[in-house]
Amino acid sequence: MSFEIIGTGRGLPEQIIENQRMAEFLDTSDEWIVSRTGIRSRRVCRTETATDLAVTAAEQAMKKAGVLPAELDLILCSTIGGDYVTPSLACCVAGRIGATCPSMDLNAGCVGFLYSLSMAAAHFDSGRAEKILVIGLERMSSWVDWNHRSICVLFGDGAGAAVLGKGDSLRYLHLGTEGDPTPLNRPISIGNNPFTDRPPVPEVLHMDGRRVFKFATRVLEAEITRAFKQTGFSSEDIDLFLIHQANGRIVDYVREKLGQPEEKFPKNVMRYGNTSSASIPILLDELLEEGAVKPGQTLFLSAFGAGLTYGSAILNWK
Ligand code: COA
Repeated sequence: MSFEIIGTGRGLPEQIIENQRMAEFLDTSDEWIVSRTGIRSRRVCRTETATDLAVTAAEQAMKKAGVLPAELDLILCSTIGGDYVTPSLACCVAGRIGATCPSMDLNAGCVGFLYSLSMAAAHFDSGRAEKILVIGLERMSSWVDWNHRSICVLFGDGAGAAVLGKGDSLRYLHLGTEGDPTPLNRPISIGNNPFTDRPPVPEVLHMDGRRVFKFATRVLEAEITRAFKQTGFSSEDIDLFLIHQANGRIVDYVREKLGQPEEKFPKNVMRYGNTSSASIPILLDELLEEGAVKPGQTLFLSAFGAGLTYGSAILNWK
């Protein structure tokens, strides 16, 4: 049974921070950031909350899908942190849009949107849902150390959403994990517990950039090879590859390996940086708005992230 995507939306903070602004307080330059990552600017929340961005994306997606809050059977938010550790971001969204269905968060790093699609597919397959709202939301500006030039320049804030209905768009889905927090993590503080010997830790994102880069290129290549072997598809059968927008060089690496033209590997990392689990749904929403995604096309979605997690999906666009 599975699903099809019947509406998408995005929520982005108004504030645009260009590379030049970063160079005003960091030992960095527009030239370094663009040449290493392709990023030219990112959005950073000034007044918006995580819930605000997620609700904007959700309301757009529901309007386009023609689905009312009362019709939703499940809300899934992929995020590494909404406005609260508890309640979940999904509950905050449900309250704001007026939905009462089960609502929960899922943390699979930057692959969260694909993990959410997988959970949604299981709900459709078991007959427990007819309409599901899936949101990827990240407010990375709250988690990076703004003094750490090799990390803070990479990330941005944003949300992307999709409303799923019953259908048969999903042609392939594979998820995986190489469980290891060391290459990419954000610790949670021990609070002010007087009975612990553990030292307090700064609650900021830690990343070994080169290690993550090598992991990303390795798993993306392996994911594509695996998907083609299992489905019989080849690069020529895929109209668009929506690769997690972490670094333009990673997207280019995969494209060059497959010998495919640039237009089949769309990017928006130059405008938003890495918005983690929001990156694929934001990109999808923009491509639909531009008319770049058309019925009958085949899309390949693939991502990698903290966990370390990875995954891919092939969708036949209806
Ligand atoms: N501005 C200027 N110089 C910087 C800099 C910045 N913003 N950030 C790092 N540098 C410096 C480093 O300190 C280093 O200097 P050194 O040689 O004197 O030590 C030099 O630039 C090269 O650093 P390096 O880490 O080798 O650069 P790189 O080409 O590997 O690019 C990343 C760094 C982070 C852009 C790259 O490794 C990457 O994209 N990794 C994957 C990250 C990712 O995708 N994370 C999210 C996963 S979901």
